[in-house]
Amino acid sequence: MANLLAKKPLEQLMCEAQETGENSLRRALGPLNLVTLGIGAIIGAGIFVITGQAAAQFAGPAIVISFVLAGTACAFAGLCYSEFASMIPIAGSAYTYSYATLGELVAWIIGWDLILEYAFGAATVAVGWSGHLRAFMHDLGLNLPAMPTSNFVLFGLPVHLKYDYVGFLVILVITTILVIGIKESANFTTAIVILKVAVVCMFIALATAFLASHGWKPNYWHPFIPPNTGVRGEFGWSGILRGAGVVFFAYIGFDAVSTAAQEAKNPKKDMPLGILGSLIICTVLYIIVSGLLTHLVPYTQLNVPDPVVIGIRTTGHPWATFLVELGALAGLATVMLVMLLGQSRVFYSMSRDGLLWPWASKVHPRFRTPYLSSIVVGIFVALLATLLPLSVLDEMTSVGTLLAFMLVSAGVWVMRRTHPHVNRPFKTPMVPLVPILSILFSGVLIVSLSYWTQLRLVVWLVIGLVIYFVYGRKHSKVQISNRAGSAAKGTPTMAD
Ligand code: ALA
Repeated sequence: MANLLAKKPLEQLMCEAQETGENSLRRALGPLNLVTLGIGAIIGAGIFVITGQAAAQFAGPAIVISFVLAGTACAFAGLCYSEFASMIPIAGSAYTYSYATLGELVAWIIGWDLILEYAFGAATVAVGWSGHLRAFMHDLGLNLPAMPTSNFVLFGLPVHLKYDYVGFLVILVITTILVIGIKESANFTTAIVILKVAVVCMFIALATAFLASHGWKPNYWHPFIPPNTGVRGEFGWSGILRGAGVVFFAYIGFDAVSTAAQEAKNPKKDMPLGILGSLIICTVLYIIVSGLLTHLVPYTQLNVPDPVVIGIRTTGHPWATFLVELGALAGLATVMLVMLLGQSRVFYSMSRDGLLWPWASKVHPRFRTPYLSSIVVGIFVALLATLLPLSVLDEMTSVGTLLAFMLVSAGVWVMRRTHPHVNRPFKTPMVPLVPILSILFSGVLIVSLSYWTQLRLVVWLVIGLVIYFVYGRKHSKVQISNRAGSAAKGTPTMAD
């Protein structure tokens, strides 16, 4: 048991965070860069694709309340992430924080669970990107070949597969960029983020102007909460909760700011600003967009791959439709990039700690990137994007991230008790109330998701635990050094 709770000493992490030298990361990001990075990772398929589908299938116009609920859960979690990110400014994010506070087994669970956030998240966005590309090409008068399908029976269950080859290809292209190593041009990323935010603001402005001049459509908002169909999660309050669990996807990404802690100029001050600033801006934008969208188009018609495009089309500005399509394509691409990058970094950190095979931290001699890790992740994500439907991918991403939020929040609380005197440049207010609320909100959102998603999470964690017990525990560097320490203490000496 003691082995499973082995912790990576906080002092060692602090030293790693302050390392300088040729292997250390360059501290180049200021507060504005961090907020931009956050918004770049947050705004994506969630708002451009999933909002409409969640409104049509689960919450109706009350999707606005779903956004408020999901945003509140994220605010509590964001406050907890901010304390850790300013206190332990190191790249491994949730995985590293839990290694220092809750021990190796929990750290492994988070690391394994983060695959759901990053790998499944990238696959979700790839499917969203594919839908947008098809719509965009269609508008240009070009139609991409239809997706091949196959139907068969597996273990007595009928299976219908659609092979999304566009999702597959886009992931392979981004993986190639990551392997070669993007000289992350700050200007390029910033330009795409500005385009993305401008497109969202343009949608808000045009939709408001259109509704103000053509009259608001109160009948689209009546009833605001459509009655439950008798099935849990289909409209009514359970539908609002289910909607919150699903649109929670739209907020994912603010936590990715914490992975840039070692590249921030002044992480102690700027990490909370980057995390909370990007979250607040996106929450406001999301609530307004979802409210306007369900005013422009009846929610029943929003179950399409490009609901925001459908919305802007009703305002009658073809150029604006074109810009939204372009903004969505560019914006979704950066989200995939950040997620695939985050995934290979987590694998890299876990492999360096000995919990995963050494190949996962092998760096390419010329490109200086963890290329094997990136390639394996890329192929896995490309297959996910090809084979699984958006709804499964999206819910798996949400459930994985929510679990990570719960563990990080618990970590803040534990750390306050075990290390009360460590310098905390940012303190989560009202501990333990805020971590408890974060755990509760995230827990409620997990419960609101489908039973299948919850079952898949359990299966995923069991697979992870098998790998940990068969490989990770035996090769963990912390365990090896602990074993060496106790062997040295137990070794008989001359005096004995
Ligand atoms: N929040 C990101 C998106 O919506 C993951 O695409």
